[in-house]
This record gives sequence, C-alpha cells and structure tokens, in this order.
Amino acid sequence: MKKLIKNNVHWIGKIDWELTEFHGSDFSINHGSSQNAYLIQEEKTVLIDTVWEPHSNEFIENLKSEIDLKKIDYIIVNHGEIDHSGALPALLAEIPDTPIYCTKNGVKSLIGQFHHPEWNYNVVKTGDTLDIGNGKKLIFVEMPMLHWPDSMATYMTEDNILFSNDAFGQHFAVGELFNDYADQCILWEQAMKYYANILNPFSTLVARKIDEVVGLNLPIDIIATSHGVIWREDPLKIIHKYAEWAKEYKEDQITILYDSMWNSTQKLAHAIASELQELSPATRVKVLNVAKTDKNDGMTEIFRSRAIAVGSPTISNEIMNSVAGWLHFIKDLKFRGKKAAVFGAYGWSGEGNKILRGALTDAGFEVVEPEIKVNWNPEEEDLLKARELAVELLK
Ligand code: FEO
Repeated sequence: MKKLIKNNVHWIGKIDWELTEFHGSDFSINHGSSQNAYLIQEEKTVLIDTVWEPHSNEFIENLKSEIDLKKIDYIIVNHGEIDHSGALPALLAEIPDTPIYCTKNGVKSLIGQFHHPEWNYNVVKTGDTLDIGNGKKLIFVEMPMLHWPDSMATYMTEDNILFSNDAFGQHFAVGELFNDYADQCILWEQAMKYYANILNPFSTLVARKIDEVVGLNLPIDIIATSHGVIWREDPLKIIHKYAEWAKEYKEDQITILYDSMWNSTQKLAHAIASELQELSPATRVKVLNVAKTDKNDGMTEIFRSRAIAVGSPTISNEIMNSVAGWLHFIKDLKFRGKKAAVFGAYGWSGEGNKILRGALTDAGFEVVEPEIKVNWNPEEEDLLKARELAVELLK
C-alpha cells in the first residue's frame, strides 16, 4: 500500500523484512532492507523507480489498487540496477509507450539487462527539468559512480524532495519509513556500513558531487532514498556525514585482523591489542578473527580505523585463504590514509608476512616496521615485539 511522504507524493515500494544478503552474497544484511519507489500525483502522474523483480507482481498490484496504470505520464529511472528497475518489464508490458527518463548510461544499462531497445527512452542530463504541473517541476542531477555510471538523483521543486536513489541509503527495514522513527544506533551503523562497503571506492567523486549539490543551494526538506529510511528530520545531516566519510575518514580506532591455525598468530594478535590498550587507553582497539567475522561488518570496522594490523600464519608458502579473501576485499574498497602492520607465525618457510605486506601496500596502506615473525610458538621476547609494533601504529 502507498504511504504518504508529503502532499501528493507517496512511497510505493517494498519493505523487505526477510532479506539477508545483497549483490549475490557480497553484502550481508543484518536488519532487512527496502526498495523504495515513489508515486507523484500532480497534474502529471510520475513513478520514480520500481522494485526488484521478485516483488514486481506485488508492486504492480499495489500500483493498480491506487491508480489506473494508464494514468502514469512519466517513469523516472534514477538507476538501472535491478533492485530498482526489476519491475519495469512487467510494468511496461501493460503501458508500453510510457516515457522513461534516465541518463545516457541508464539507457545502456536498461537495454543491456532487459533487451527492450523499443522502450520510449528520454535521456536527461544535470540541470534538465520536467514540468509536472501545479507549478512544480523535476530537476535531474547526474550522479555518475554513486555508485554506477548511470546513477542520477531527481529533485522535486516546491515540495523540496531529493529522490537520491542509492546515495544516502542503508539496508535497514523501517516500516514507518522516516528516520525519526528508526532505531538511531542501527540506522547510523547501517548507513556507515553501506557507505564503507559500496561507496568508499568512489569517495573522490562523492566529495565532488556533495560540493556540487550543496552549491546548487536547493532547499532540501526530505531526502527520499531507495533503500532504508527517508530522511525528513535534519535531512542535511546525512549529506554532511557523507562529506566527512568521503575524506579519508578515520576515528581513534585500531583494528587487528587475523586468522590462526594453532593459536600462535592468535597470541600475537592478543599481545598487540594489550600493548595498544596500555599505551593509548583512549584508542578503541578491536580484534577480529576474520574466519569468524562478517566481512562487511569487518570492512566497516576498517573504515572507522586509523590503522590496522593483519596477521596470518604461513601455510603452503602462502597466507590462510580467509585472510587472503579479506585482503582482496580491502583492496577493492580503496581505503586511504591508514597505516597497517603485519604479523604471523610459521613452521619452516615463513613467506606470510611478505605476502601480507605486499597486499596491504597494493591496497594503499602505509605498512610500518617492525613486523612480528615467529617461528612455531611465540616466546616472551616475541611478545615484547608487540610493544614496538604498537608504538609504530600509534604514531
Ligand atoms: Fe540499490 Fe545500485 O542499487
């Protein structure tokens, strides 16, 4: 059922309480999610985005219970990824000539995914407008790589609503929709997780786009995202958070990541944590066994950290595959302005530290000396090296 957002604007999406993963299994979902679509009924009737294909029948039935589909004058596709465009084939089967407004890359993405070059595409660029009657208009703002090349936002004048699509969203199911109803701890945790795991690689572009949007001086009363809450209480707070997160964000936190075969590397991880806590009580220190930690929650901890220490024993001239998988993901996310240290135990060959150092350097970290490399089980003197390593990480 539709829910009122403001005046003649309603939400008509899907609250997805059951969803546990996204992008295949690449993003873990802790508290459900939503696919938010919007219906504007001014002199013109406008649909902004749709939902994921598995929910398309339910979505179209909901739409039909509110309006005659033939009354839809325009469909705005802010982003072609199928969690927002998945209901288009079923919808356009019923209203095939309805104009679709999207970016040039949006056309490519929709044709590539749905194979309907005959749909009535209308390409828009930043600053283009669409009159929707009653003195109101839509203004389009291209948002390339936030987070796909085709992404854009749509601003509605007079009601001052920014339909931001993925930007400023979170995977968080909130039935009451608005940010002032949501559990604030979960909301901000999920907003940061979304940024760290999806938008962080594009932080330079995010910072530039935020400056551009703020520079437009458009009054913003509501930010209507495509996932999670709709920001109506202090809506600019999330924009300011994005500006902060986009600039090599770090808190006074150091996170130690490791896996261990027979607990030698684990002993080193715990020794480094103890030394950090003793040397700098104000620093938040976290220890994560990567084989037992959700990788997306772990990436959020790295995002918050000013430094990390990564440990693995050497196994078959390599590092453990759990640690290797995390390092691959860390590289993808393009963290900047953070230090790292490496440590690990070995039995006979001991290549682990070198591999860790190379991978972290490739991923953009400043890898400090010393490292801790222990043959078999650590002795007292090995554990003492943890202090030297902690001192360097804290500098
Ligand atoms: Fe929510 Fe990029 O799709």
